Amino acid sequence: MDTNIKCLFNPKSIAVVGASRTPGKIGYEILSNILGYGYGGKVYPVNPNATEILGLRCYPSVSAIKEEVDMVIISVPAKLVPEAIEDAGNAGAKVAVVISSGFKEVGNKDLEDEVVMRARKYGMRILGPNIFGIVYTPTRLNASFGPRNVIPGGIAFITQSGALGIALMGMTIVERIGVSSIISVGNKSDIDDADLLEYLAEDPHTKVILIYLEGVNDGRRFIKVASEVITKKPIVVVKAGRTEVGAKAVASHTGSLAGNVVVYSVAFKQSGILPAHNVEEAFDWSRAFSCLPLPKNQNLVVVTNGGGAGVLITDTLAEYGINLPSPPKSLMDDIRKLVPPFASLANPIDVTGMISNEGYVNALLKTLENPEVGAVLGAYCQTAVTDPTIIAGLLISRIREMGGLNKPLVLAFIGGEETYMAIRRLNDFGIPTYPMPERAAATMAALYNYVKIREGVITRISKLSKKP
Ligand code: ACO
Repeated sequence: MDTNIKCLFNPKSIAVVGASRTPGKIGYEILSNILGYGYGGKVYPVNPNATEILGLRCYPSVSAIKEEVDMVIISVPAKLVPEAIEDAGNAGAKVAVVISSGFKEVGNKDLEDEVVMRARKYGMRILGPNIFGIVYTPTRLNASFGPRNVIPGGIAFITQSGALGIALMGMTIVERIGVSSIISVGNKSDIDDADLLEYLAEDPHTKVILIYLEGVNDGRRFIKVASEVITKKPIVVVKAGRTEVGAKAVASHTGSLAGNVVVYSVAFKQSGILPAHNVEEAFDWSRAFSCLPLPKNQNLVVVTNGGGAGVLITDTLAEYGINLPSPPKSLMDDIRKLVPPFASLANPIDVTGMISNEGYVNALLKTLENPEVGAVLGAYCQTAVTDPTIIAGLLISRIREMGGLNKPLVLAFIGGEETYMAIRRLNDFGIPTYPMPERAAATMAALYNYVKIREGVITRISKLSKKP
C-alpha cells in the first residue's frame, strides 16, 4: 500500500495553506469543517497575513510549523501553488490536496506540470488540483468545502466533478446514504482513480466504490486495477460525456478526454465494472451494496400487494437480464395460509390489495426465512387498509429479532407522504427502500449481476494464472 496515499485518509496532522480569516471564503470553510466534523489529529492554519484563525495559532509557512505534517491542503490562487508545494515538500508533507482552480482545465497545463514536478522531487503525492477536498468518515476527516455532517457508511464516492460532487454530498445526507469517503479528484494531475481503487479495495470501511467519471488518464492501468478490485468489492461507475456533445463539454470542464463511448463500455465489461445509467441509479445500487449481503442463490422472489408493481418489477428485472424463477413449493404452501384465496401464488407473489399490515409483513418474512430463497424483493403499494409506517416498524422489529438479514431484502414503498417517512426509517435501519418499483428492481438486478460478473472475472483470472 502506498503510505503517502494512506495519509490522504488517515493523516496524523494537517496544515491548511490559505486558511482564511473570513467566513464564506474557501480557506475558512475547509478549516472550519476539519475542526467541526471532529478530526482528532493536529491542525495548523498557514497564512502569512494572520496570527490566529478559529482559535488556532497561524503559521507563515508549512516549514515554520516545525512539527510533522502529513497532509497539506492548499487553497491559495493558482500562481502561488508551486511555491506552496515546494514549502510543503521541504517540510516533509506526504500528500497535498490542491483545491485551487486555474490549471489544465483552463489551458494552464505547464503550471500543473510544474506543481507535479515539484511534488515528485520530494516524493509527495498530489490530489487535484481543481477539487473540493476529501472526506473520510472513519477518521472524522472532512477536509472539504462541502456540507459538514456527512453520514458514515460503506460507500466510497470518487468524483471528477466538483460542484456536482459537493451537491451530491448534500444529497447523501438528505437521502440517508452513508459514506466511508468522498474524494474529489478534479484534474487528476497525480493521484488518479486507479490509485484510489487500489487503496479502497483494502479499506475495511468501504463496501462499494462509486465513481463519477469523465475520463481516465491511463486506461490500461484503470482496467487492470478495476478487474482486480471487483473480485473484492463492486465498482459502480456513472460515465459522463457519453455523447459527442457531452464529450466536448467534458473537455472544457476538467480538461479530460471523454473518449469513445464504445471503448468505455467494452472496458467496463472487461473489468467487471457496473455501469449505471445515471447518478440516481448509481447511488441506489451503491446503497444496497453497502448494507446487504449478496444473493444466496438464483431463487429471487418478489412479494407485492400490487399486481402492477409486480409487472413493472418483472419487466425491469428482465431488462437487466434477470428472470424470475418459480417460487419454491415449500414457500407457496406457507404463503397460501396467509393470503386471500384469490391471491396469485406465482412469482411475483401478489398477496392482493386487501392484505393487512401484519399479513404483508408475515408474507415477506416467510419468504425471507425460506431456506430455498436466495433474495427477496418486496413491493408495497399504499392502500387505505394498510399503513406504511406500521409496516416499516413491524418489519424493522421482526428483522431485528431475527438478528438482521442473512440474504438481500430490497423494498419499493410506493405512495403518499407516509410512505416517504417509512422509506427514511427503513433506509436508516439498513434495508434499501425506494419510492418506485423500477428502482428497487434495477437495484436487485445489480446485486445479482455483480455476483455473476465477479464469478466470471475470478474464473478468467485463475485461468490466466494457470497458463504456462
Ligand atoms: N500562503 C498561505 N496563505 C496565503 C498566502 C500564502 N503564500 N498568500 C495569501 N494567503 C492567504 C490570504 O491572505 C487569504 O487569507 P485572508 O482571507 O485571511 O486574507 C487566504 O490565503 C486565501 O487567499 P486569497 O488570495 O484571498 O484567495 P481566495 O480565497 O480568494 O481564493 C482559491 C483562493 C479558493 C484557491 C481560488 O484561487 C480558487 O482557485 N478558487 C476555485 C476553487 C475551486 O472551485 N476548486 C474546485 C472545486 S470544485 C467546484 O467546482 C466547486
